[in-house]
Amino acid sequence: MKFFVDTADIDDIRDLASTGLLDGVTTNPSLIMKAGRPIKEVIADICAAVDGPVSAEVAATDFDGMMAEAAVLTPIADNVTIKVPLTWDGLKACRALSQKGIGVNVTLCFSATQALLAAKAGATFISPFIGRIDDMGYDGMDLIGDIRAIYDNYDSISTEILAASVRSNNHVRDAAKLGADVATVPPDVLRKLANHPLTDKGLAAFLADWEKSGQSIM
Ligand code: E4P
Repeated sequence: MKFFVDTADIDDIRDLASTGLLDGVTTNPSLIMKAGRPIKEVIADICAAVDGPVSAEVAATDFDGMMAEAAVLTPIADNVTIKVPLTWDGLKACRALSQKGIGVNVTLCFSATQALLAAKAGATFISPFIGRIDDMGYDGMDLIGDIRAIYDNYDSISTEILAASVRSNNHVRDAAKLGADVATVPPDVLRKLANHPLTDKGLAAFLADWEKSGQSIM
């Protein structure tokens, strides 16, 4: 499974990229707003910090507007992926951009049929929003499973399932079990993936014994 970080905070991104385990970044208008800097500057900094795809989302809602904004965002760096909403205009833009060889992340996906259309439109990534479905009292993971099952029926589909709106370690575990290709994870959740209290306890005991042994490896 590939790990993307879902943030526009350049310090968090640089820190996580230094692990060598970060495969990409997703941003959205809310995250850009939180960053408090012009989108072109933020995306340029992120693209320079990370080798993998960096999703930059359009703000226009009509086809021509999305294409015009994509024309501004795409040249920022080779690793920019254009993020479009899952609307008919978004799907049209997805098709047009993917036909030009531009990577597209279709976002705000809440149903399997939406995901099927995004694949048909040539999306590089489809972003089902797990957490927001859970918030409505349903199980977001069902959607990941449905999309995986549908995509696996068609050899012609190469769209990657990007589990989004991830809120917990369990979301990452379950999305991986169901075969999501990518999880985009907020920085705090991403850091928690490596933590376990028994790891900390075990390490403390080993270090105490090592101290008692009086040995040194160097
Ligand atoms: C994905 O690309 C979105 O930016 C993100 O995962 C949305 O998550 P949220 O529902 O926590 O805002």
